[in-house]
Amino acid sequence: MAQRVFSGIQPTGTLHIGNYFGAIRNWASLQEDHDCIYCIVDYHAITTEIDPQVLRAASRSMALDLIACGIDPQRTILFTQSAVPEHAELAWILGCVTGYGDLARMIQFKDKSAGKKFISAGLFIYPVLQAADILLYRAAGVPVGEDQVQHLELSRRIARRFNARFGEFFPEPEPIVGKGARIMSLADPTIKMSKSAGEAHYIGVMEDERSIRGKIRSAVTDIGLEPGTTMSPGVANLFEVLDLSGELLGDQSIAAELCSEFQSGKLMYSHLKDAVFESLMQVLRPIGERRRELETSGIVEDILREGADKARVIARENITKVREMAGLVVG
Ligand code: TRP
Repeated sequence: MAQRVFSGIQPTGTLHIGNYFGAIRNWASLQEDHDCIYCIVDYHAITTEIDPQVLRAASRSMALDLIACGIDPQRTILFTQSAVPEHAELAWILGCVTGYGDLARMIQFKDKSAGKKFISAGLFIYPVLQAADILLYRAAGVPVGEDQVQHLELSRRIARRFNARFGEFFPEPEPIVGKGARIMSLADPTIKMSKSAGEAHYIGVMEDERSIRGKIRSAVTDIGLEPGTTMSPGVANLFEVLDLSGELLGDQSIAAELCSEFQSGKLMYSHLKDAVFESLMQVLRPIGERRRELETSGIVEDILREGADKARVIARENITKVREMAGLVVG
């Protein structure tokens, strides 16, 4: 049987091209030769304050985005975390084999809690729930970005602790690090593209064309460099988007041409920006069209229900075993 892969994404409302090139594209290609389970992690989303209605809409919207980006519900289990409450149950059990000190060392917790008036215990135990997500399906591989490597390392440690205390059951999940595309903010190319930095800092996969054009046009570059000098972060970032789009479209000739113009000091940044816009839109347009079709067909609820049904079968089988091993009530 093919190797089982699990990954999760928070329902943030909308995907940006950093998510797409950095993660989702990789999720889609893993479907070719793995049994994939992809989860919209709404339990994780409530670790910080979020309006309930906004959250419910965001979970559905994320499902539409993922399917439009090539996650194929025929081959892959796609579901919303809270539809399978065994995630929360396993998180409790795993919490009892997780060191307090291990959680206190998590960089993401330190970042997310810094300066906050109220820090929920949920935010603190977030990585335990993440471990539960993965281990509940005894997944062998987890596609993650760099920022999740520490959490995955903790998941491995939790698996070892459980196995040592209750008996061998969980495999230690391996990270699957993708091609490592790291798209930076267009407005400030020294920081990673993200929604949290604000509108100007990201390009949404489903964003309006005119708005995308505007953001690319005003992307930070530099004042033009002498031939042979190194690229500024802003220019390098535009080339990165051009390369990645070209790769997907199977045509990297424009990127190569503009790169040699850069090297000889002849590149006009307005040309580079036009090329980035054109190539990127060739990637994004069909995704947007697919999403609109899906939205009107109204099948996303059925897809998520079926996904949750399939996930629950695996989850129930494994949680029953865990209950047995831990001396809890079974049946
Ligand atoms: N914490 C991950 C993130 O913020 C999301 C996530 C939740 C996840 N559960 C997971 C990722 C399990 C991989 C596997 O990106």
